Amino acid sequence: MSNAKIVDADLETGPRPRWWPNPFKELKARRAVSRRLAALNPETDYHEVSRLVVGRVFADAFFNDALFTVAYWRQIAVRTIAPVLHQNGRGKTYQTTKRVDDSLLFFGFLYRDGWRTPSAGATIDRLAAIHESFRIPPDDFRYTLSGLCFEAVRIPEILGCQVLSDSEARALFLFWREVGRRWGIEVPEEQAAFRAWMEHYEHTVYERTPEGPGLAVAMGDNFCKRFFPGPFKWLGYTLLRCSADDHLLDIVGQPHPSKAARKVVGLFVRAYAAFRRWIPASSGPQLLRQWNREYGEALDPLVIGPDWARKITPQDRRHAKVGQCPLAAAKEALRESVTK
Ligand code: HEM
Repeated sequence: MSNAKIVDADLETGPRPRWWPNPFKELKARRAVSRRLAALNPETDYHEVSRLVVGRVFADAFFNDALFTVAYWRQIAVRTIAPVLHQNGRGKTYQTTKRVDDSLLFFGFLYRDGWRTPSAGATIDRLAAIHESFRIPPDDFRYTLSGLCFEAVRIPEILGCQVLSDSEARALFLFWREVGRRWGIEVPEEQAAFRAWMEHYEHTVYERTPEGPGLAVAMGDNFCKRFFPGPFKWLGYTLLRCSADDHLLDIVGQPHPSKAARKVVGLFVRAYAAFRRWIPASSGPQLLRQWNREYGEALDPLVIGPDWARKITPQDRRHAKVGQCPLAAAKEALRESVTK
C-alpha cells in the first residue's frame, strides 16, 4: 500500500530527504503524504492530521517562521503579555533566533508526541513550570493557545485565500485544545466559540504598550535576517505586514501595507499552497530538524529552552494539575500556604 511509504523517524534530525539520486521515488513518497492525509478523519485522527500538515505538507521553515512571527506580534499586542515578554529588556525575545528556534522545537515535540503519552506530558509540565516563573493571567494563556489553534487559518483569510482545508483547520483546533487541557488551560469545547472568544478578547485587551513596537521589530528583523537578508528586508516586512490586519499593525507600531501589496502577497500564498498540495514539502518528518542549530542531534524536550530554565524539570511544576484551570490551582496553592 502506498501509505507504507510514510516513514516516521524517532528523532527527526537525520539527513533531509533528497531529490537525488532518485527524484521520482522521492516525489512518490511526498505524494503518499497527501494521500494519507486525505484518508484521515479529523474528528478522531487530529493528532496525525496536524503532524502531517505542519511537519510534511507545509513544512518549509520559511512558512512556519512567518506564521510564528505574526502570531507572536499578536501576543505582543496584548497589554499584559508585552511586559512579560520584555522582561525589563532581558527577555529572550531580544535573542530572537534562539527564542524562535526553541519555541518551534517545543511545538515540534508536541506535534510529534501529542499530549497523551508520559513523554508528551513531561514536555507540557516542563513548559508549564517554566511559565510559573512569571505572573501570567489564565486568559492570556488561553489567548496564546487560541493563536496556535487559529492563526494558520486567519492569516490566509486576511490575504483572501485558504491554505488549510476545513477538516485540517478542525484537526488543528482539536489538537491544540487537547494540549491546552493537558496543560490545565480551560478551552471551550467548540471551535467557533473559541474563535469568537479570541476575537472578543483582542478587542478588549489589545493596547499599544511602551515595549510592544520594539518587540515587534526584534521579531520582524529576525525573520528578515533569515529569509530576506540585506536589501531584501523590505520584502520580508511586506510579507509579514500583509499577513496582519490594520488593527494589529497599529497596536504593534507597524505601518499598513498598500492594497496592491496585500493582493500580490495573497496571490503568492495562494500559489505556494497550491504547489504544496501538489508536492508536499517533505516525505520525512521536518518538525525538529529545521530548528536544532543550537543542539544538533542531542535534542531533548527536557533540556531545550532559555538558559535560565535549563534546570527546570516537569516535577518543578507547582500549580495546575491535569485538567485544572491555572487560576483555580493558584488559589488552591495560596490556601495551602495560608493553612500551613
Ligand atoms: C498555552 C500558551 C503558551 C504556550 C504554548 C507557550 C509556549 C512557550 C514556549 C514553547 C516557550 C519556550 C521558548 C523558549 O525556550 O524561549 C515559552 C517561553 C516563554 N513564554 Fe510562553 N507560551 C504560552 C503562553 C505564554 C504567555 C501567555 C506568556 C506571557 C504572558 C508567555 C511568556 C513566555 C516567556 C516570558 C517565556 C520565556 C522565554 C524567555 O526567556 O524570554 N507564554 N512559551
